[in-house]
Amino acid sequence: MSEILRLVDVKKSFITDVERIDVLKGINLTIKRGERISITGPSGSGKSTLLHIMGGLEHPSSGDVLFQNSPLYQRNEEEISYIRNMSFGFVFQFHHLLQDFTALENVMIPALIAGEGLKKAEEKARKLLVKFGLGGRLNHKPAKLSGGERQRVAMARALINSPDVLFLDEPTGNLDPEHSQEVLDVIKTLEGVSIVVVTHDFGVAKICENRYNLKNGILEEA
Ligand SMILES: Nc1ncnc2c1ncn2[C@@H]1O[C@H](COP(=O)(O)OP(=O)(O)OP(=O)(O)O)[C@@H](O)[C@H]1O
Ligand SMILES: [Mg+2]
Repeated sequence: MSEILRLVDVKKSFITDVERIDVLKGINLTIKRGERISITGPSGSGKSTLLHIMGGLEHPSSGDVLFQNSPLYQRNEEEISYIRNMSFGFVFQFHHLLQDFTALENVMIPALIAGEGLKKAEEKARKLLVKFGLGGRLNHKPAKLSGGERQRVAMARALINSPDVLFLDEPTGNLDPEHSQEVLDVIKTLEGVSIVVVTHDFGVAKICENRYNLKNGILEEA
């Protein structure tokens, strides 16, 4: 398997008025194409920060992320956001769907932003939602969906541009076991895309080839 993402001595410190926190103290990690990895760790250990840095959402204090062997953070913001939109997908613990838009529209939006035509975007979005068991919910707005349904819409939205890497931050963190299982079933169907998932859900961690634990700024194999 070829390498898709590599973290090279990634460090991150936050400096506030009162203190300086060294959250990540030199993270090295290689992710291969199609590989799934999970990250656990105590609250505040820097899991979300690490995910944001991997996904081009936040600059590291030092070190870099190589995407397809090319350093991400040596690029300008426009290039970084292009890579993010075209090659990465994100699902957060709280779905962040747009409340005024239907499930179908929410999923279509990233495709439209990427320059896809309306018809094609709709066709792709519909196909994904049907695949994820939401064929009967296409025109529902997020408020009318269950937590599990919302997360599956968020998953479809993250996948519509066929990303190389999907970042999931506690995708089942808010869900009861039944709805967690629905989300897990969706994750299991994904092929080809690399997945980095922050999770304390053993069911989710179990389907990952490699499991890591982040503690005191260091990433260790779990
Ligand atoms: N923008 C910021 N400015 C200052 N401190 C920050 C900022 N973002 C995160 N932090 C701090 O960095 C540390 C790591 O935060 P992060 O959100 O990455 O943790 P986490 O492991 O995802 O926690 P949780 O499991 O609760 O989601 C925390 O101490 C947090 O307060
Ligand atoms: Mg977090």
